[in-house]
Amino acid sequence: MADFDLVIRNGRVATAADVVTCDIGVAGGRIVALAENLGAGERDIDAAGKLVLPGGVDGHCHLDQLMSDGSRMADDFRSGTISAACGGTTTVIPFACQIKGHSLREAVDDYHRRAEGKALIDYAFHLIISDPTEQVIGQELPALIHDGYTSFKIYMTYDDLKLNDREILEVFALARREGALTMVHAENADCIGWLTERLEAAGRTAPRYHATSRPPVVEREATHRAIALAELVDVPILIVHVSGEEAAAQIQAARDRGLPIHGETCPHYLFLTAEDLDLDGFEGAKHICSPPPRDARNQEAVWRGLENGVFDIVSSDHAPFRYHDDKGKMIRGKGAPFAQVPNGIPGIETRLPLLFSEGVGKGRISLNRFVALTATNPARLFGLYPRKGTIAIGSDADLAIWDPERQVTITNDILHHNVDYTPYEGMKVQGWPETVLCRGTVVVEQGTVVGAEGGGRFLPCELPLSARPEDSLAIS
Ligand code: URP
Ligand code: ZN
Ligand code: ZN
Repeated sequence: MADFDLVIRNGRVATAADVVTCDIGVAGGRIVALAENLGAGERDIDAAGKLVLPGGVDGHCHLDQLMSDGSRMADDFRSGTISAACGGTTTVIPFACQIKGHSLREAVDDYHRRAEGKALIDYAFHLIISDPTEQVIGQELPALIHDGYTSFKIYMTYDDLKLNDREILEVFALARREGALTMVHAENADCIGWLTERLEAAGRTAPRYHATSRPPVVEREATHRAIALAELVDVPILIVHVSGEEAAAQIQAARDRGLPIHGETCPHYLFLTAEDLDLDGFEGAKHICSPPPRDARNQEAVWRGLENGVFDIVSSDHAPFRYHDDKGKMIRGKGAPFAQVPNGIPGIETRLPLLFSEGVGKGRISLNRFVALTATNPARLFGLYPRKGTIAIGSDADLAIWDPERQVTITNDILHHNVDYTPYEGMKVQGWPETVLCRGTVVVEQGTVVGAEGGGRFLPCELPLSARPEDSLAIS
């Protein structure tokens, strides 16, 4: 009779704190033993020479999300979670998005229907609040937070999503009362609108002008304002997808003053620059996202922010839009003005290999910091720790077994998303997750998808560790 359902033997097991060589015993989907020479498992996996890391937690990705023109993002919960798993991620947190004029609960119910029976790995939901009415703030949100939707994103730009300062204050005050966490997309909508109109009037509509329409000052101002509003209310917030030095400096300055401001960045700000928006033949359009990738100096500042702690988490911000339709026709038409190209790029599968190779492999961040940025910290920030994001007794056996030597050239045809390009085409990386387990079940085996559609479970989130109400002063 076996002692365990599964034993992973002799791997170098890394958490945010340690790296040790040991066996991992799994029973009932959880980690139940960490020791040398564990007894028999129903199944053994030999991980000698490999790294065993906590499965990644992607705290910011978009799956099957409705767009303002009625279209949907290209990955649903099936293709999106397959792609995530193949890249070493075992938990995703996409967004149930409120449509203005509609209820939030309606958005959540619809999103559950979209996920059910499709996800291969576990998932939680953030909310997007686009219409913070009295009903939403006073009733829907408190009830939803209670039900395990404890983090939400607000936008300071995009006409169909943006909130004004007064509305932002209402959301922050509610987050403070309930102990929830607000994620902020910080760009100044009026500046972008004004610049875009002037660029269009001058005929400057090529993809590279997307970056001109959203310069760093636009992000810096909104980041500063979001932090000021959070300070007024005395609530922690997370500034998402920080693109460069100026916004990072705002976060650092706030922290220096003792404010609980968290920062997120994404691979596109580490591996792409605004020059990629100027590639020939409308290829630049494949790199349009907001905020836009900046210059090499800003890219360097983002790397520094990973090293010095400005950033708590690295998320994919996977926003899957196809470039061509099924018949090979360019969806937006070659030469579409930048303002008509959907914002966002794919990256749910490449997030971890890129950061591992260029960060850990090139000695810029330690293996522990890699685990913290990509698994432990997002799990903590969004109320899933220690169930997710670490390797510890009692945690879910969400594990990724990496071959740290494997050399891979990233091309779109090796990826599993439903997007017809990757902005990282041709990049060479070293290190790739080969076998991936969710709650002790193998979902990717030596690079082959073996998980069952619908095997992933919904995860209600606890209150984020950084935002518990008892840590704050009372404010009415
Ligand atoms: O350009 C981006 N980042 N698009 C995805 C949606 C968002 O704002 O995160
Ligand atoms: Zn955003
Ligand atoms: Zn996003």
